Amino acid sequence: MSFLEINGGRNLYGSLSVQGSKNAVLPMMAAALLNKGITVIQNVPYILDVCHMIKILNALGCRVKYENGTLTMDASCLTSHELPWAWAGKMRSSIMILGALVGRCGEAVTYYPGGCSIGARPIDLHVEGLKKLGVTFDVEGDRIEARAARLVGACVDLPFPSVGATENVVLAAVLADGETCIRGAAREPEIVELCRMLRQMGACIDGVGSGILRIRGVKRLRDCCVSACGDRIVAATYLMAVAACGGEAMLTETPVSYMGASLDVMRRMGCRLKSEGDRVLVLSDGEPSPIPFIRTEPYPGFPTDVQSQLMATLCFSRGNSSIQETIFEGRFNTALELKKMGADIIIDNRLAVIHGAGNLHGALVEARDLRGGAALVIAGLAAEGKTHIDSCCHIFRGYAGIETDLRQLGADIRADYGQAAQQA
Ligand code: EPZ
Repeated sequence: MSFLEINGGRNLYGSLSVQGSKNAVLPMMAAALLNKGITVIQNVPYILDVCHMIKILNALGCRVKYENGTLTMDASCLTSHELPWAWAGKMRSSIMILGALVGRCGEAVTYYPGGCSIGARPIDLHVEGLKKLGVTFDVEGDRIEARAARLVGACVDLPFPSVGATENVVLAAVLADGETCIRGAAREPEIVELCRMLRQMGACIDGVGSGILRIRGVKRLRDCCVSACGDRIVAATYLMAVAACGGEAMLTETPVSYMGASLDVMRRMGCRLKSEGDRVLVLSDGEPSPIPFIRTEPYPGFPTDVQSQLMATLCFSRGNSSIQETIFEGRFNTALELKKMGADIIIDNRLAVIHGAGNLHGALVEARDLRGGAALVIAGLAAEGKTHIDSCCHIFRGYAGIETDLRQLGADIRADYGQAAQQA
């Protein structure tokens, strides 16, 4: 089993560059299937989810090369339209292939997607949105068969700004006949990045960054080379680590313009921030102020993907804080692990109340999902004593060399990648 071992209680000092964005790169890799040619994406983090997506693309006949952070994908001739069951169930993003594959060849077979166990995570909004464009579905168990003799642009109203459903409909719409309008679209930066890449490939998309996207179908897309933005969630994770431990750190290659809500929360905890371009300097005395109430919201609100990390950080404040999770109904699992470290957290449905006592002690804990695992790293870095985190393959799905990054800030941390190394 893969694990991390941390001797905590140290301030963090130093600088590091933030990896490319996992949640931007994964749909961008799906988009490469829409181009009968070569698509290059730079600044791609070497993480398990990228490795799994590479295996899926290879199984479809797309020739993929990953070298020094650059992905080169040749989707000139695909040999299959069926995702391997073994890989489709390993991550949520496999569902993104559906829209791209149906857009490219009119059919796709996949399996119910995997991903973090943070709630039910249905795909009804994906299915309903694609049906509006003329896709028909046959579902048998977790096997999903999608077909479209012809994709025709349509109006899609999303009752909730689902990131994945928005991305899937966009991917299916770019080669459809006519115009597609997505109302109630998600506005996350990862969708902006996907649309930026598709436009470079020749797609016609208006309203990027707004809740109303208009896509006029084109006949074909062209080769392109794009660079993925920095990962705003990984950056926020490292900022929170400094907030909890105390110290001073400079983050570079950071998507500052996408991080407004997270930076505001850092200021509310009493951290000093200076940002210029893609650089953020954070200073903290290691005694974060409590936050009486905050709720997670769709972008540009406070991101659900930073909620667990904030919960861990607030355990090191002195006073009461509360966090309402409005996106995923099962995203408080990490509280159970933090309690093993002495945290005083009460969960009432979607509200977590944290009674901060200023410190935690090291313990044997287990990562239960990606961001919850990152939250345990923050807690281990700031807690007194040794923390051993098991099941770190969850963390390695989204953080490339988290132990190397944190050692650059002076952390005493070591990793054993265990079976995660074989999966890569
Ligand atoms: C994406 O997941 C991200 N994953 C998640 O990040 C992120 O937490 C989430 O967006 C919200 O920002 C990737 O981009 C790979 P949603 P996604 O569809 O697309 C419900 C991480 O830590 N819903 O916006 O699955 C759903 O159950 C991961 O990097 C439906 O009801 O999120 C949830 O309650 C975790 N029906 C809410 O919408 C659907 O068809 C938001 O889901 C789809 C979603």
